[in-house]
Amino acid sequence: MVELPDEAMEVEFDTVASWTERAVRTLGPEYAIPAGCRGSGSESALRWLADGLDLGADARVLDDGAGVGGPAGWLSAERGLRPVCAEPMVGAVRAAHHLFGLPAVVATAQELPFGDASFDAAWCLGVLCTIPDKAAALAELRRVLVPGGRVGLLVFVAVRPLPPPLPEGNDFPSEEELTGLLSAAGLRLGPTGRADLSDSPAEWTERADAVDAEIERRHGHDERWALAQEQSGRVGRLLSDGALVPWLGIATAV
Ligand SMILES: C[S@@+](CC[C@H](N)C(=O)[O-])C[C@H]1O[C@@H](n2cnc3c(N)ncnc32)[C@H](O)[C@@H]1O
Repeated sequence: MVELPDEAMEVEFDTVASWTERAVRTLGPEYAIPAGCRGSGSESALRWLADGLDLGADARVLDDGAGVGGPAGWLSAERGLRPVCAEPMVGAVRAAHHLFGLPAVVATAQELPFGDASFDAAWCLGVLCTIPDKAAALAELRRVLVPGGRVGLLVFVAVRPLPPPLPEGNDFPSEEELTGLLSAAGLRLGPTGRADLSDSPAEWTERADAVDAEIERRHGHDERWALAQEQSGRVGRLLSDGALVPWLGIATAV
């Protein structure tokens, strides 16, 4: 079995983020949202989460672990809000800012550079499974939300032992672990659901594929592209296998 090197996550979330930004610039701005949703590539999941957050017209919203900014860009386009993106990978932060014109800062979820109660709502999509210290990340999320503020979560949850090969740097919780962590952080769980990651509009999928093809054209010879493809392919295989499920939840800061 292939051992992925330690930098696999950095390649997937930083190098490929910069390549994605360049590919979108070549193809056009309408490619930005589909290409920018990494790990949350389902429009119906974004809609379910946004509805559950019950966002007012002036809501201050945080996208925690925003990646290239696709979900925040979608929220901006669909709901007229201006989410703040926080994300540790510099290439992704630049991409989020340049592609969507949104405020974006380099920060980990465990150490958010915002005051207490700075946000009315937040979402954190496909991120918790990449963070070993989930309790610290959830405590920070709770701290920056106003009491009563809501958070939307997409978490890849392990429903049984995961068959190898596993993606490097991921630590998938069980649903029981996740709900325990939320409650310990002062986040009361409300509605939950499952994302259908295959039900986005055909146009969305075609555009995401076109961006991948453009990256492949430019960087297909680069071993980092193969590494990133292997890494995301491993998550895809676990999801197809059913051992991993895309869990959705809305929780309220108590
Ligand atoms: C699967 S991607 C999801 C990106 C984005 N939320 C989306 O749905 O398109 C996971 C993201 O988590 C970020 N990440 C990794 N470790 C993190 C941490 N400690 N704090 C915050 N984000 C982190 C990665 O850099 C990556 O952008």
